[in-house]
Amino acid sequence: MHDLAGKHILLGLTGGVACYKAAEVCRLLTKAGATVQVVMTEAATQFITPVTMQALSGRPVYTTQWDAREPSNMPHIHLAREADAVLITPCSADFVAQLVQGRAGELLPLLCLARPMERVPLLLAPAMNREMWAHPATQRNLRQVQEDGAVILGVGHGDQACGENGPGRMLEPDEIVEELLCALAPKPLAGQRVWVTAGPTFEAIDPVRGITNRSSGKMGFAIARAARMAGAQVTLVAGPVALPTPRGVQRIDVESAKEMLAALSGCAEDATIFVATAAVADWTPAQVAQHKMKKQAGAGAPALVLVENPDLLATIARSERARSGALYCVGFAAESENLLEHARTKRERKGVPLLVANVGPATFGRDDNALLLLDDAGVTELPHNSKTVLATQLVEQIALRLAQRA
Ligand code: CTP
Repeated sequence: MHDLAGKHILLGLTGGVACYKAAEVCRLLTKAGATVQVVMTEAATQFITPVTMQALSGRPVYTTQWDAREPSNMPHIHLAREADAVLITPCSADFVAQLVQGRAGELLPLLCLARPMERVPLLLAPAMNREMWAHPATQRNLRQVQEDGAVILGVGHGDQACGENGPGRMLEPDEIVEELLCALAPKPLAGQRVWVTAGPTFEAIDPVRGITNRSSGKMGFAIARAARMAGAQVTLVAGPVALPTPRGVQRIDVESAKEMLAALSGCAEDATIFVATAAVADWTPAQVAQHKMKKQAGAGAPALVLVENPDLLATIARSERARSGALYCVGFAAESENLLEHARTKRERKGVPLLVANVGPATFGRDDNALLLLDDAGVTELPHNSKTVLATQLVEQIALRLAQRA
């Protein structure tokens, strides 16, 4: 995926053991299609060599404002202006303090000061010992740089190079790149509260068996991620799947359809957009055996009596806020034949303004898909692509429809 194609990132390194992770950040950025210009403070060069960063970025590294390659002798001006974002990994406590004071004693803080603030975001991935992180001076400085327009990417919690354990570890490279993508993404869903259901449900027969289906949850997780990238506050209600939670998304894990419905209790009151991607089991065993059902010689297979599960989407779509237009409901339809015809009927039956149709057997478990969007205006096709790309396109389509309604 070339999510950063055409983007030029200024990657700044300050002093800290986490400099070794900046090498991986650089690699991920170039893999995502970005061009990268590395600038290092003198302290950073004590931890990792400019040669390594040059090799990974494919460009000579800047370490000083007196760089002889600069005809005008003003690297701080041109480096800050050619960048789409300035990303500092690792960002030391001292560097935050320098930013707070507007210091410009080295090239990196100097170019941060010289960057056009309205156009070039400044993202900081702090890395320091837990005591340094917790110190009131650091916390005060972090609040101040945020007020001055910088984005703090947060820190991890765990083992530290100094042997201690706590908050202050730098985020992992993939988390940092995800945050950068988020900072650069347009925000058509800013201010929206999005709830998404995803994955299969598991309907227990006894303590070891149950009824489920082959939904992987990938589409729903991708939509939750895309909605967060688009500026929404996102809650993801997930059936049993082994997928990592997208960054910045609140996740509620459930098993059965009934649990999923209970988890959605806040949705009807809170959400402005509801996207139902979950493959909710239509039926559930009337009784759950308390103990494992045992085979009995000659008795044959036990009869399984099923009862219908509640329809989550239809329930939410019937709520007052959905009917008044304050909550926009999006349903999915997984079909194996007559896609358009079944989807039209389903949209009416569920009472949703937008229904997204896809071919179930062709998408379950896969990383790609193709979608048909049905609403009052007609049918919109989102042709075959990765679920990540389709999720972004679907979120754009939802934002477009909300803007048209407003
Ligand atoms: N859905 C739901 N609760 C259910 C069943 C489905 O919320 N008990 C939602 C799904 O999340 C999806 C939409 O309804 O957004 C359609 O799901 P689908 O399985 O395609 O349709 P069904 O309602 O099961 O209808 P059918 O069995 O006729 O295909």
